[in-house]
Amino acid sequence: MGQVWAGEGSSADAPAVPHRTTVRELNSSDAKRILVTAALPYANGPIHFGHLAGAYLPADLYVRYQRLMGRDVLFICGSDEHGVPITISAEKEGVEPKVIVDRYHEMNREAFAAFGISFDNYSRTSLPLHHRTAQEFFLDFYEKGILKEKTEAQLYCERDRMFLADRYVEGTCPICGNPDARGDQCEQCGSMLSPRELVDPRCKICGTRPIVRETKHWYFPLGEYQKRLEEYVQSKTDWKDNVRKYCEGWFREGLEDRAVTRDLRWGVKVPLKGYEDKVLYVWFEAVLGYISSTKEWAERTGSPDRWKEYWQDSLTKYVAFIGKDNVVFHCIVFPAMIMAKGGYVLPDNVPANEFLNLEGGKLSKSRDYAIYLKDYLAEYPPDLLRYALAVNLPEYRDTEFTWKDFQARVNNELADTLGNLVNRTMTFAHKHFGGAVPPLGPLNERDKELLRRIAQAPQSAGALFEAYRFKDAVVEAMSLARYVNKYFNDSEPWKTLKSDRARCATTIHLSLQAVRSLAVLLGPAIPVTARAMQGMVGAPADEANKWEAAGRLTIQDGMALGEAKILFTKVDDERIDRELEELGLGQRAAPDLPAKELVTIDDFDKIKLLTAKILAAERVPKSKKLVRLQIDLGTEKRQIVAGIAEKYVPEELVGRTIVVVANLQAARLMGLESRGMLLAANDGKGTLSLLSPGDDVPPGVPVK
Ligand code: MF3
Ligand code: ZN
Repeated sequence: MGQVWAGEGSSADAPAVPHRTTVRELNSSDAKRILVTAALPYANGPIHFGHLAGAYLPADLYVRYQRLMGRDVLFICGSDEHGVPITISAEKEGVEPKVIVDRYHEMNREAFAAFGISFDNYSRTSLPLHHRTAQEFFLDFYEKGILKEKTEAQLYCERDRMFLADRYVEGTCPICGNPDARGDQCEQCGSMLSPRELVDPRCKICGTRPIVRETKHWYFPLGEYQKRLEEYVQSKTDWKDNVRKYCEGWFREGLEDRAVTRDLRWGVKVPLKGYEDKVLYVWFEAVLGYISSTKEWAERTGSPDRWKEYWQDSLTKYVAFIGKDNVVFHCIVFPAMIMAKGGYVLPDNVPANEFLNLEGGKLSKSRDYAIYLKDYLAEYPPDLLRYALAVNLPEYRDTEFTWKDFQARVNNELADTLGNLVNRTMTFAHKHFGGAVPPLGPLNERDKELLRRIAQAPQSAGALFEAYRFKDAVVEAMSLARYVNKYFNDSEPWKTLKSDRARCATTIHLSLQAVRSLAVLLGPAIPVTARAMQGMVGAPADEANKWEAAGRLTIQDGMALGEAKILFTKVDDERIDRELEELGLGQRAAPDLPAKELVTIDDFDKIKLLTAKILAAERVPKSKKLVRLQIDLGTEKRQIVAGIAEKYVPEELVGRTIVVVANLQAARLMGLESRGMLLAANDGKGTLSLLSPGDDVPPGVPVK
């Protein structure tokens, strides 16, 4: 349930433990209402398939299911319009940030709507209402003495006259030597960094080397909430393992103070004197966008106070859908902020999905290796992709989207199974029973088995929706369609039409009944198709509980049927070939690697790999990972610094032959010069093994 942490005016030094008896889970059925949020996408680029599979489609499946259950559910989202990702996009194009966010906010709002993501409100964080909401939280913390002011030295670009927060700095990663690490994270080794840890930092805008200058910021004391956060996460026994493990990792490291202000011009202004040139850290205010979007919804729908029902009543069940890269902010930072504020609900569940890969490669916006929703929608109806993604959601592990799989799902499952069932049933009823529902006669065993399956489907698929297992829920619904097709075949109505007309009528009656149930059960996944199906078999009366009615017989003898319509057109091979070419995966590419990941032999030749002998090795003091090596490269001796101390005892490395990238730009790691990089099998998760040609190979031999 969404526990409300009563505001107890806790001081920063001793946050009081809120009064509560037990931490009880609210089932959807006990909850009075359900609040669903989906991560606010940055308005600096178009929505792609990865976004959809990560958060928006699962959230929409859940919401549509809950609405069919007759529950009071509110679905909230909007654009995240501040932060460095936005301003960097603006600088790249040489326009104001406002131009960027206006463009992508509109584009994404439209694409979501066309895809049937049924938000009740899609807001944006540039609205004054949002700025006020975020400032109110900040001031509340400030006035309660929760925030700490600290002066610290940060990187400052003299040319651009600004402090270089987060991604505004790039440089060499102190851990792995990647020369293009970002100020907040190295994408090569995954380490979280702060700008000052970068070796040879450079300004992202002008490329010059920043200086160090003092600045003042406000910090949120995350560490003081650790105990309560641990209790909170521990109480959530139904959270996904990956989410819990991730949180436990953070707890083990120990939570620390986090700066909640930044020296930037674009964002929500810090509402304090002397802080006019600073803004709130984007993650501090973006999560509050859920609240301001709900306020906007309440105002728009004419009851301005109703947002409180969703956010401030303990009978709300709050579910926050996100992709896995957002876990720390939704499971740790945001809950801590809510605890500090008091009186708001905490997430009951944060069903974070893993990543969706694309045709054997990682999706990448910067390399433009992605499929954008608006491009898809220009070619195909929304339901095809909704279905193909729904049955392939990265719920427990990364999954992969391929156009071939898309084609197979559409042609075999949507067209040949569901489309065929609906079409043959409708055509039969029109042709032989005058376009009305034929009478239900006595039931045989096969009919009874079909009825049993129909009766039980809402229950079993519903339980899966409640358990956030959307992929299985949709597969379950589709398996009913498969079964009904088989029922139709086995019942052979084309034969009984002549031999036993009453029997034939019963078969068609029950098949129509099944189509009507399927229109409900598949409604969350393929809403446009479901509406078309309802139009054919007569839309169900407006019952509060449509979902459960899908298990009952709701069709009456003699009811007039709508026109039989073809639900799906198959996707042909040419189309798929074109899509693959679009991605740079045409015929010439190797079958299993995206062309964008291929290099030419000339590219490879640029990298000079040589064997080398280790002459001396010692740990770098105060570093967990780094070892300082003196190596013999045949024609010269060099020092290199490598992140291998967690796996190798330095002394034992002496005398070993290794492979080194000899023409890598020099870098400084922990103040030590490193000229070259050694090769190792390294997955960044614990497997680390040096590449060693036999020790009889002399130093300086090229490796090709
Ligand atoms: N804009 C962020 C992203 O795309 C997500 C923000 S979620 C919010 O990764 F809660 F902070 F809004
Ligand atoms: Zn600069």
